[in-house]
This record gives sequence, C-alpha cells and structure tokens, in this order.
Amino acid sequence: MAGIVIVGAQWGDEGKGKVIDLLAENADMVIRFQGGNNAGHTIVRGDVHWKFHLIPSGILYPGKLCAIGNGVVIDPKVLTDELDGLRAKGVDLSGLRISANAHLIMPYHMYLDHAGETKLGKLQIGTTRRGIGPAYADKAARLGIRVQDLLDEKILKKKIVAAMEPKRLQLRPYAKAPELDLQSMTEDYLTYGHRIAQYVADTARLTWDVLDSGKNVLFEGAQGTLLDIDHGTYPFVTSSNPVSASACTGTGVGPKDIDEIWGIAKAYATRVGSGPFPTELDDELGATLREAGGEYGTTTGRARRVGWVDLVALRYAARINSLTHLAITKLDVLTGLGPLNVCTRYRGAEEATFDNYPYHQTVMHHASGDYEQLPGWDEDITGARTEEELPQNARDYLKFISDFVGVPIALIGVGPGRDQVIWTDAGRATYAARTEGVTA
Ligand code: GDP
Ligand code: IMO
Ligand code: MG
Repeated sequence: MAGIVIVGAQWGDEGKGKVIDLLAENADMVIRFQGGNNAGHTIVRGDVHWKFHLIPSGILYPGKLCAIGNGVVIDPKVLTDELDGLRAKGVDLSGLRISANAHLIMPYHMYLDHAGETKLGKLQIGTTRRGIGPAYADKAARLGIRVQDLLDEKILKKKIVAAMEPKRLQLRPYAKAPELDLQSMTEDYLTYGHRIAQYVADTARLTWDVLDSGKNVLFEGAQGTLLDIDHGTYPFVTSSNPVSASACTGTGVGPKDIDEIWGIAKAYATRVGSGPFPTELDDELGATLREAGGEYGTTTGRARRVGWVDLVALRYAARINSLTHLAITKLDVLTGLGPLNVCTRYRGAEEATFDNYPYHQTVMHHASGDYEQLPGWDEDITGARTEEELPQNARDYLKFISDFVGVPIALIGVGPGRDQVIWTDAGRATYAARTEGVTA
C-alpha cells in the first residue's frame, strides 16, 4: 500500500499541479485534502494550459478516481463552473467524487472576506477574497454548511439562518445583495446540490478501499507550508493546514497510510499577498525573475513577489512535513541570471542571526536573508532530460539545496511542459516511479 502526499514547501504556486499530473499517471486515486478555490494549479499538456481550482489535478486521466476530500472548502458555483468547463472540453468526469463532509463556501463568506480585508486597510493579508477564511471559521464555530446539507431543503435553510444570524451586524452593509437573500440563496444552493449529487460519496471509505487493495493514492495539497495557519507566517497565512499531516485529517486516513511525502519547491521563491519574505528581491533583478518565470497568480492574476531560494524556510518545511523527497521546479528560469544567491540563515535586527526558522512574528518581520553565492549558468536547459545534460553549475546548485535541506531531489523541472522534467536516481527509486510508465 502506498500513500504519497504532495505539499507545497514554500508559499504556494511551487508547481504542485504539474508534479501531481506526472505522478497521477501511476496513481489509482488522487484526493485533495485542504484549501479551496484559493488554489490555482496549472498543468501544461502540449499547447493547452489547464487551470484547476478545486478539481484534483489527476482528472485529465480518463476515469481516474479523483476525490475532493472532507478537508476542502467548496464554493459550489466555482465547482459547477469548473465541471462545465471541463465537460465542454470533453474531459471524462466519471472518476470524480466529492466528500459529503466537505464544507461549503457561502455567499456571505465572500462578503466577509472582502469586508475583513477592507477593514484591515494597509495591514490586509492580501487574501484571494474567495471566502476561504470565513468558511473555515464557520467550520470551527460549528456553523458550517456541508455538501450533504445540499440534499435536504429544510435542513439547508435552517442551517443558513443559524449561520447568518451571528453575522448580521457585519453583513448589514450588504443587506441588499441579492445573493444574501435567504430564499434565493437556498434555491441556488439546492440547484448546485442537484448538479453535484451524482458525485457525492464517502471519500474516506473509498480511499481506504484503494489503499487496502495495495494500490497508490496521491494526496494533493494546496497552498504551501509557510502559508499554514499553525506553522506559517501567521497571520499572513491561509486558514487551513497545507502541511502533510493535514493529508490525514483532510481525507480520513491515519499517518501509517502515508509512505512518501514530496515537498515541491521552486528553484527560487515567490509569494502572493502580504507578509514576511526575507529573501525578497524588490529590484530590477526581481522584475527580471518575475517576467522570466511568468510569476502572475493563477487565481487572481496578481504579480507574485519574487526572491532568492530560502533554505532556512525550506529546511523548516522539510522537518514540519517529514519530507522524503523534494521536487525542484523552474530551474530553467534561473538560466542567464548571473551568480545565484542562496539564503542559508537570516539576519535580524541589531546584527542578530538565525540559523533556524524563528517562531517569533516580530523577528520574522525584520528578517532578511544572509547568502552564499553560487555560480550561475547561461546554457539553455529546457531540453535537458537527464542530470548529466545539466551544466555543472546547475547540478552544483541543486546539490547545495539538497545537502542543506537534507532531503533527496526526486524531480527537477526545466520548463512548464509535461515532458520538461528530469527524474533523478532518487526519483526513479521511489514508490511513485516504481510502477510502469514513468516518463524518463
Ligand atoms: P501550483 O499552485 O503549485 O500548482 O503552481 P501554479 O500552477 O500556480 O504555478 C506554477 C507555474 O509554473 C505554472 O504556470 C506552471 O505551468 C509553471 N511551471 C511548473 N513547473 C515549471 C518548470 O519547471 N519550469 C517553468 N518554466 N515553469 C514551470
Ligand atoms: P496554490 O494551491 C499562493 C495566499 C493568498 C494570501 C493568503 C491568504 O495555487 O499554491 P486566502 O484566500 O487563502 O485566505 O489567502 O494565502 N494564497 C496563496 N498563495 N498559492 C496559493 O494556492 C494560495 N492560496 C492562498 O495570496 O496571501
Ligand atoms: Mg497556484
């Protein structure tokens, strides 16, 4: 039995979609375990760019069991739109399953997200404004509405009334918004319920069955470790746990069901939204890197902040997630950039230095990277398919990362395309690669 968890090891957008698409070839099931449509996972196949917000990144394999786990928060409008879009493109959706226990994002969550950010003004988190935080808040407050509630009009209405009641004051400015009218909200959500009813299932049981029959399950994470509500740069985080432990709670399996944990990281670093980013490049080089990497958000289109690779944070992510493997993406983006800085410790206020990721918010806010400089390379590496085909400086750069973090690199991304990837020896030896069909 093999459960393989894929998590973001930085601040999201590390290329999880691409790696999941690759590994899903040998998986019997893919299940998302947290987050919602704040996620944007891109898969490039030939000339087609696929963008997924809620549907697991394995759906492009016809009939593949693809589940949305209980830990995900679902905006049913976004979900049904995504389904319509995929159907129109001829994608087979027969393998889709949706947890009856997953919580729903309601129209008032979106208004509250918006209102919360506006109120914070300059201190805003820079959320995706998709209602993620308020939906998880209601889940914790036991005022959440779940997928199973969509199938019963009476229960649905009662729960909407109960959930909206404590929010009356905050929602007063939006009192006239048509989506907040009780009757039309109930009707809209009942319609979504009818449209997704065929996919609703006991996804935990399904996952056990696949694992118990000795098959592979990929657990698909969204966001990244430094956006984790417990372990990230709080309060500049998302409202769920994107770390590997959450693969268990977000789907209904225990830790013993997990065999490998892959952390996906870019060869540099990016972050969308506010919050500390010690290695940020707020200059011309940063702008060059942003353009070279096409660093604009998949979900909101916002320009991503960019910086040098942060090995202090990456080593922290390795420990928090128990990473067994690293996939380093977007190595090609560093080509021609000149000497490359890698952050090996932080510098704080008054000459303080930190070898390890500091827990204190004030320290993190003042932290800046302390770097070692490694030589860069100018050769085009987008056609490389083996490590030997990479320039020595690129190989040394990767080795430095892997040695510092203490986790072997399994996969290297050298372009957005599906085939633009290098499997290392460590990668080939993994469970993920041991079955037939891995693209060499
Ligand atoms: P995710 O949220 O972690 O799935 O990542 P996103 O899809 O939001 O962002 C990653 C972006 O990088 C996407 O546009 C991918 O197509 C692209 N990408 C992934 N791997 C590579 C790579 O190795 N090289 C390049 N140049 N682009 C990549
Ligand atoms: P994927 O899965 C990058 C960021 C937002 C904001 C913070 C909180 O594509 O890697 P939220 O809307 O979740 O309350 O916003 O988290 N954020 C992401 N950044 N990639 C993502 O997802 C993100 N999902 C949320 O920009 O800073
Ligand atoms: Mg993304």
